[in-house]
Amino acid sequence: MSTQRADLAASGRQTNQHLESAVAEAEQRYVAANPGSARLNQTARGTMPGGNTRTTLHYGPFPLTMRSAKGSRVTDVDGHSYVDFINEHTAGVFGHSEPVIQAALKQAIDDGLTLGAPNIYEYELAAAIIARFPSMARLRFCNSGTEANLLCLATARAVTGKPAVLIFEGAYHGSLLYFSHGASPLNMPIPVIESCYNDIERATADIAANASKLAAVILEPMQGGAGAIAGDPAFLKALREACSKHGVLLIFDEVMTSRLAPGGLQGKHGIAPDLTSLGKYVGGGMTIGAFGGRADIMDRFDPSRPDAFPHGGTFNNNVLAMAAGLAGFSKVLTKEAVDRMNALGDELRDRANALAKKHGLPLQATGVGSIFGLHFHNGPIRNIGDLDAGEKGRERDIAALKKLFQLDMFERGIYVTRRILGNLSLTNNKADVDLFIDALDEFLTNRGTLIRQVVG
Ligand SMILES: Cc1ncc(COP(=O)(O)O)c(C=O)c1O
Repeated sequence: MSTQRADLAASGRQTNQHLESAVAEAEQRYVAANPGSARLNQTARGTMPGGNTRTTLHYGPFPLTMRSAKGSRVTDVDGHSYVDFINEHTAGVFGHSEPVIQAALKQAIDDGLTLGAPNIYEYELAAAIIARFPSMARLRFCNSGTEANLLCLATARAVTGKPAVLIFEGAYHGSLLYFSHGASPLNMPIPVIESCYNDIERATADIAANASKLAAVILEPMQGGAGAIAGDPAFLKALREACSKHGVLLIFDEVMTSRLAPGGLQGKHGIAPDLTSLGKYVGGGMTIGAFGGRADIMDRFDPSRPDAFPHGGTFNNNVLAMAAGLAGFSKVLTKEAVDRMNALGDELRDRANALAKKHGLPLQATGVGSIFGLHFHNGPIRNIGDLDAGEKGRERDIAALKKLFQLDMFERGIYVTRRILGNLSLTNNKADVDLFIDALDEFLTNRGTLIRQVVG
């Protein structure tokens, strides 16, 4: 931390009794400490809307621009180093500059990138994934999680001949399938029925009532973007049974959750969806998506069939993603490594919840394994409706608390999202978790009065 930044942090970190002034002071220190990020964002506003090409990365007054990363740390353009708890929004499972993946990438670059043919990596990567996710009897690659989900839904509609899809409130299945607080105007024009996550009665009734027009039910077995809300195993099982009973395909979006156990959450819960979408870390840090499932469904993509579904995609098998993904999946992301990372995440969550209890404050850590969410909330969190009910009438103040949390954590050298959704990579260690918990303890000490004022 620079001297100027340490001074600012020390003078400003006393308890503020008023939320607005606390946030204003924290923001002033942030602006003063990050002139390089401010300048770059200002310049970029002339060429990209809001200086942004990826909405997820936006937060005011401007986001930190990162210059480099190594292991579990990222460094911004003003020279501050942070322990990374964002880890590319769960895609950065391997940590930064993982040497085995780097070597695979260098080799692939040396050997040539745009071959215009099947390459030597894609078959092996497909086999490695299928070995971990047996419900995917066959799979195909594409370029993003969004694309994987769009292809799952299009496939479900084509094979069932039915038009609609059941989704759950708060769901994020990609930039064209976004259902947080209403549907995005950019969503694909697919008829959608919205149901309630973790509500067995409502969801099974919705499936039964709409079965004649429903092609699929799509969900994450832990809702990620909605707040790291774990799916109750009984709920997931009930959906599996209802879908089988009514001739509706069950799609698990495991773009985020597949890292939470060696065979994803479907493996952990012993539930086989009809189709699965993957993305993020599967390409070893390169651009990727994958979708797959039952052989009778996926074999419709076999181009030698007269009735084959056509599925092109110039970069579906792009050499860098296939090579990096194969190295990462087969050599780095061993079952033991996955379990270790997720156990560390469980520890972080348990310690965060114990701290909240010690301080007597309404803060809850949710999630599964290495993915966590922190919520200023009283009462159970089963779905986004629970969170919304808790925030009702105090949305601005809760948002201000989250902003304060992020800015305070930045000052402690901890890189977290404004929404307070975080995750660990394979390179985060116990010392990183200790640092996070220590900073959280300090936050709850300094800001406890404000949290109590806002949440009660
Ligand atoms: C659950 C889930 N599905 C789909 C996507 C979309 O993936 P991509 O950003 O690669 O399009 C994301 C991305 O955050 C996600 O979290």
